[in-house]
Amino acid sequence: MSHHSHEKTLAALGVTEPGQVARLFAQLLVQANADLEAAHSADAFEKFRVHWFGRKSGVLTLVGDNWLKPAGKELKPAVGQELNQFKAQLDARMETRRAAIESGAEETSGARERVDLSLPGVRRPIGSRHLIRQVFEEIEDIFVSIGFSVVEGPEIETPYYNFEALNIPEFHPVRDDMDTFYVEAAAPSGPPTVAGSLLLRTHTSPVQIRTMEKQKPPVRVIVPGKVYRRDNPDATHSFMFHQIEGLAVDTDITFCDFTGTIEYFVKQYFGPSVKTRFRPSYFPFTEPSVEFDVSCIFCGGSGVSAGGATCGKCKGSCWIELFGAGMVDPAVYGFVNYDPKKLSGFAFGMGMDRLAMLKYGIDDIQAFFQNDVRFLRQFP
Ligand code: FA5
Repeated sequence: MSHHSHEKTLAALGVTEPGQVARLFAQLLVQANADLEAAHSADAFEKFRVHWFGRKSGVLTLVGDNWLKPAGKELKPAVGQELNQFKAQLDARMETRRAAIESGAEETSGARERVDLSLPGVRRPIGSRHLIRQVFEEIEDIFVSIGFSVVEGPEIETPYYNFEALNIPEFHPVRDDMDTFYVEAAAPSGPPTVAGSLLLRTHTSPVQIRTMEKQKPPVRVIVPGKVYRRDNPDATHSFMFHQIEGLAVDTDITFCDFTGTIEYFVKQYFGPSVKTRFRPSYFPFTEPSVEFDVSCIFCGGSGVSAGGATCGKCKGSCWIELFGAGMVDPAVYGFVNYDPKKLSGFAFGMGMDRLAMLKYGIDDIQAFFQNDVRFLRQFP
């Protein structure tokens, strides 16, 4: 008889007596068992269940519709009884099958999770500290060894700390050189801000003020950190870069202490053969102010590169500008309640990225921020 016998009525199948009904169900059970045995996965099992027990068009629903309902009086009890038996038998087999599939699945996943200790381990590449971070630590070590301590400050600043308290009033032209990014957020309570807004600090100098507000002299600190300016990116400029600020304030600090400290640092960092020089400069928060240069480490201060051409790094000038510095302007002490008559000190602000470029021969500042691992791996 056809596998699709359940799609026809008993009359259409020519079934007229209970014996035939029993045979019909026996055949159906053979078919169901074969289907069940073929289901090896949870998915296949579910397909089987829907095919046989599905409410709408499952085989058993059709058997009910086509065989049981239209059956005449003489066949109906037999059909009902066979159908119940059939369901009970199939139910029992399905339970067994379901358990087999589930434990089978557990077995396979168990095998997958079992650890094979004889296999070689998975080596994960270990990262390294970024060159900028390494140079920060190198410089920190040099200054810590001569009595400085390391402090940090916020990258989002108030105009008060970034400018005003550093003796840069609102319309001072020097602000143009340090154009930055303003943040739209409520200013935290604290010292008044002129613009009433916040900005990304343009230098680490605001931490001079924050430190002197918190601490009585003597002060000897360095401040490593990120700073931001609205500068166009090129080989030596980035809109985000790093500085190390230095501040020393005490009752008897002179310009000689300053030059001695800086020269010590430069010789430690670049080696004993570099020459140094100061040039007059201007910062509103130092007086006098200087720019500090080192002899060009690319051409050895000759202005001529190895090939005989003009050195491209110092452009033939023999010197490379390192940073700005000076003696703390007495006006700054007024903002932090230090006595300008008794105290003196020096401050400097170095461009960290350029210090790193000079020492490690990197000719493009952008390489620090592109995160190309081929670059980073050169500085393990
Ligand atoms: C200052 O930022 C002062 N705060 C330094 C200072 C501190 C002077 C304490 C006196 C006392 P200046 O704007 O020159 O100064 O920046 C300092 C250094 O930051 C520069 O010498 C340069 O090395 C670096 N620098 C400036 N702009 C950029 C930039 N866009 N990208 C990378 N480095 C920069």
